[in-house]
Amino acid sequence: MSESGLEQLRAEFDGALAAAGTAADLERLSALWIGREGKLRRLTEGLGALPPEEKKARGKAINELKLAITAAFEARGRALSAAPRGPAPDAIDVTLPGERPRLGRRHPIYSTMEELRDVFGRLGFECVYGPEIETTYYNFEALNIPLDHPAAEPFDTWYLDEPDGGKRPHRALLRSHTSPAQMHVMESRVPPIRVVVPGKVFRTDPADASHLPVFHQIEGLYVDEGVTFADLKGVLSIANKALFGAKTETRFRPSYFPFTEPSAEVDVSCLLCGGTGCPACKGSGWIEILGCGMVHPRVLEFAKIDPARYSGFAFGMGVDRIAMLKLGVTDIRHFVRSHPLFLGQW
Ligand code: DAH
Repeated sequence: MSESGLEQLRAEFDGALAAAGTAADLERLSALWIGREGKLRRLTEGLGALPPEEKKARGKAINELKLAITAAFEARGRALSAAPRGPAPDAIDVTLPGERPRLGRRHPIYSTMEELRDVFGRLGFECVYGPEIETTYYNFEALNIPLDHPAAEPFDTWYLDEPDGGKRPHRALLRSHTSPAQMHVMESRVPPIRVVVPGKVFRTDPADASHLPVFHQIEGLYVDEGVTFADLKGVLSIANKALFGAKTETRFRPSYFPFTEPSAEVDVSCLLCGGTGCPACKGSGWIEILGCGMVHPRVLEFAKIDPARYSGFAFGMGVDRIAMLKLGVTDIRHFVRSHPLFLGQW
């Protein structure tokens, strides 16, 4: 190879080195040029056959090329490892629209729960919480529900232990309503008591459009001297207007719950048709939203509150149902499917 051949080789190497942008590129280049099978090595192959003078000159030129190439290679390696990683500053087009991060937000059930808590808070009710794991005593007996009552049957209730033939007085279970919290509050405070208790409740119901095995209730309790049914009607009528709109009418229908006497179920005028009748209210103009009543004297006695001196009212409503009504959701299962398009609406 002539002198100009070596120069051409040098130019070729310089071009390849300039194009090497990463450590991997450099490694590949090193194998191609400097390695055992590299181009430089092959240059020396024909040297032995040359006459001594020529061999000397040629050997020197090859050696110089080798040194120059190795030095350039090492310099490039140092430059690469010192260069900042990531794209060059001018590689970012700041005029492109950014990608908005998807923000989390409160679940609609929890927003509804907060709204309920706020409405009753303005009416003077303090928000407290009760345990989700209860016993048969608090979930049933102290609420005047005998254990042979249908509601106490294993079919509805999520028991956490097996019956033991009466050795243990009370079985553990997941609370099937928030009413047992009434007892905890009455046991730990003296009247006047005015609380709401929001939270999760559990029943062995299979999920369908209107049931979930885990759902939410909010319990209300007011115990003091001289509390009457009129107070109950006043509080719930005002709360319903705050929750569903100023035009909302409230209707009390006689009903039965073991822990209240008298008991009532409460309907509000249909949110969609205003009371004239539509598919949402099945033509009746009314939608049922809660159960309530005057705290049964026996329940007060269980809590060691004298029913001759004190009276009270209680109510319990399904939060999921209220959320469905307010948001126009027709299948309760949407709430637990967590689809971003569904949950992202509110
Ligand atoms: N605990 C009842 C249920 O889950 C609802 C209820 C009815 C609560 C009447 C009350 C009440 O406090 O007074 O079906």
